[in-house]
Amino acid sequence: MLSLDNSYNEVDLKDFDRKARQLSKLESITYCVEPKFDGGSISLIYENDFLTRGATRGNGVAGDDVTTNVRQIRSLPLSARFSDYGLQQVEIRGEVLMNKNSFKKYNDALIEKGLAPLANPRNAAAGTLRIKDPQEVRRRNLEAFVYHISDYTLLPGKEIPEALKTHAGSLKLLWELGFKSPVNEMRVFDGIDLVIKYCLEFEEERDNLPYEIDGMVVKVNDFDLQDQLGMTSHHPRWAMAFKFKARQGTSKLLNVEYQVGRTGSITPVAKIEPVFIGGVTVSSISLFNEDVIREKDLMVGDTVLVERAGDVIPYIVKPLAELRSGDEKKIKFPHHCPVCESKLFKEEGEAAWRCVNIECPAQVAERMIHYVSKDALDIKGFGEANIKKFFELGLLKDIPGIYKLDFDAIGKLEGFGAKSIEKLKDAIEQSKNQPLHRLIFALGIRFVGETTAKVLAQKVNHLLDLKQLTQEELQTLEDIGPKVAGSIVHFLAMLII
Ligand code: IVH
Repeated sequence: MLSLDNSYNEVDLKDFDRKARQLSKLESITYCVEPKFDGGSISLIYENDFLTRGATRGNGVAGDDVTTNVRQIRSLPLSARFSDYGLQQVEIRGEVLMNKNSFKKYNDALIEKGLAPLANPRNAAAGTLRIKDPQEVRRRNLEAFVYHISDYTLLPGKEIPEALKTHAGSLKLLWELGFKSPVNEMRVFDGIDLVIKYCLEFEEERDNLPYEIDGMVVKVNDFDLQDQLGMTSHHPRWAMAFKFKARQGTSKLLNVEYQVGRTGSITPVAKIEPVFIGGVTVSSISLFNEDVIREKDLMVGDTVLVERAGDVIPYIVKPLAELRSGDEKKIKFPHHCPVCESKLFKEEGEAAWRCVNIECPAQVAERMIHYVSKDALDIKGFGEANIKKFFELGLLKDIPGIYKLDFDAIGKLEGFGAKSIEKLKDAIEQSKNQPLHRLIFALGIRFVGETTAKVLAQKVNHLLDLKQLTQEELQTLEDIGPKVAGSIVHFLAMLII
């Protein structure tokens, strides 16, 4: 499986075009331009219309056989009527991706479990392709884009179909056969100038796409001309990647602070010198748990490499150890809760240290913030800042308190006019009409994310009915194992209603 040569600017692309024109002795070349998908590279073989093999790129010569896993990807047809085009065997190149939405959900679930989330969708997709549990692969919702027919054989007596004379034609053929190929994103242009213009325009749109791309790929459109140009020992001479600007920067690790989450987990947060990356200023980066600090061997005072990809949360790639002066300080993870000072505990097999005092003010506030948040009961006009303010002033003590607010006292606070109070009252009233699954999710039960909340809500008609279910009964429900069931029972036992 060949790789592509990289270009980073206009000059590189013009150079690529000049060489291709010199070799082909043509005055102008027609190119097809498409996104460069940022995932895991795969090769697929279809024989007699059936998907028979899926492999990763590996070192380019030998990769892993991932046939069972690629069969779990819904956007890859298990069979496609290549025979209608006279094709017997076809080898296709593509990229397996996790879209931004699925990636966020996947990472949220990891964070919920106290684990460090994956750095980017590329790692998530490539890693998922290699796991040994096909059902888990299916659950993670991978997608695949196909962008190249690298080889084919014809059925006896058949001729090369018209579609397989150009790259754009081959992408359309794949689309018609039910694959996801970049037909909507690709453009065909005469000459390199329009190609460059499109690449630069597309870079602006990068963050609006539902998946990650790290550049564009410029390909000579005509297959005969591709053959004529051939390849070097590493790359085809008929294609060039145009890489977008890296969304990385360096900064200095100033300090590590510790935040207490709603389930008591302690999250170390790196405070760094503000650095502008990919359109935003980053000054605070979650380090997730103690293991991350150890694995990366981070020290206060380190110069760190920071990456921020699209909507993905920024993360520290690594410290630049070669720049250390010797004045850097070891990071000491606390033994006591930074808010209520109770002793921290770490359960067997868990990555997070936890404050187990459920009355810890930080946890109480975080539980309320979660309760009113958009994906939970969505009480508009409340928000993190107001919850914290009311909590600190003693106007709000717990979740039930949201429904017993003293609006006269709130009205006396700065910034709370009659209008905003009316709005808040309305939003609180409306939250009573939210479906049961949102209420269950809003309670912030450990290990109960949106999906589990929906499963529970389908089982009962009222929140109180959940209290009647035993741990064994809960475990009979979809995706609920002993750990989740135990957590639900424990939570409901403490709920005084
Ligand atoms: S063409 C022989 N087209 O980028 C040419 N590659 O850096 C085969 N990639 O290994 C590759 N999007 O995994 C091609 N639209 C696209 C692509 C693409 C992503 C990946 C591919 C390749 C890597 C090279």
